[in-house]
Amino acid sequence: MGDVISLSVNIAGINLKNPVMVASGTFGYGEEYVPYVDLNIISAIVVKGLSITPREGNPPPRIVETSAGMLNSIGLQNIGIDSFINEKLPFLKKYNTKVIANFFGDSIDEYCEVVKRVDSVDGIHGLEMNISCPNKQEGWLEFGTNPDLTFRVVSAVRKHTKLPLIVKLSPNVTDVTIIAKAAADAGADAISLINTLSGMAIDIKTRKPKLANIVGGLSGPSIKPVALRMVWQVAKSVKLPIIGIGGIMTYEDALEFMIAGASAVQVGTANFIDPNVSEKIIHGIESYCEQNGINDINKIVGSVII
Ligand code: FUM
Repeated sequence: MGDVISLSVNIAGINLKNPVMVASGTFGYGEEYVPYVDLNIISAIVVKGLSITPREGNPPPRIVETSAGMLNSIGLQNIGIDSFINEKLPFLKKYNTKVIANFFGDSIDEYCEVVKRVDSVDGIHGLEMNISCPNKQEGWLEFGTNPDLTFRVVSAVRKHTKLPLIVKLSPNVTDVTIIAKAAADAGADAISLINTLSGMAIDIKTRKPKLANIVGGLSGPSIKPVALRMVWQVAKSVKLPIIGIGGIMTYEDALEFMIAGASAVQVGTANFIDPNVSEKIIHGIESYCEQNGINDINKIVGSVII
């Protein structure tokens, strides 16, 4: 028998049994995936983004398949923070997986209100703050594309929680490191990136946009090289743990992100193709470690040779 391999990682005080989480918006509130996946295997479930009140989201169609990816314009549909706490969290607490509440608001006050409601709730292990949804309506504050707004909203939220605070960044910016630094200066405990890339698709028969919202967020394998580049840049720029997201379909993809500097990864769009893909990625990472004489997964983080 070979040496025991440690896959556990720590993100801002959240102990994860392995570096593979599932991304917000691709795994519902966990319960939906129970017929297909053993939730105990996944290190953390990042639930669909929560707001102070329930939201219906954008009108359909709001999903379009693209070459090597998909566009979504869901519009932040969710059941609201109180229903999540009362109706969904008790179920999730039965599993040996960490629960990370992804959340957002239309204003700084709304972000703070959500956080005040979850801060002392048993069973929530961390918060992921979404400042990066590309599907908000015109005129709404774009917190994640402006460093001053990023600083203001993260600082405000920081005052209301002692839970580990992960800030999820947008790729729809010129220099993601400036936003990452603003989040770090404001008290973020970790950075996750990237959210989706703003995109569009047109039906050539009708000449109309395929999404009712006209534009949406691109995810899937087509965005992986962009995400990897941004993770590498941010890992060099801030001294916070990084969670890599963007088109991770295989264990090789996950390892690329970790070698670029991510301490953990989130699997997103791949869940729609294979709900059990996370388990395969975890096993693949373990085999890679075994075959390459790596006894602790943390040793590969940021090990890219330039
Ligand atoms: O529209 C949506 O619900 C997507 C959210 C996001 O990408 O953050």
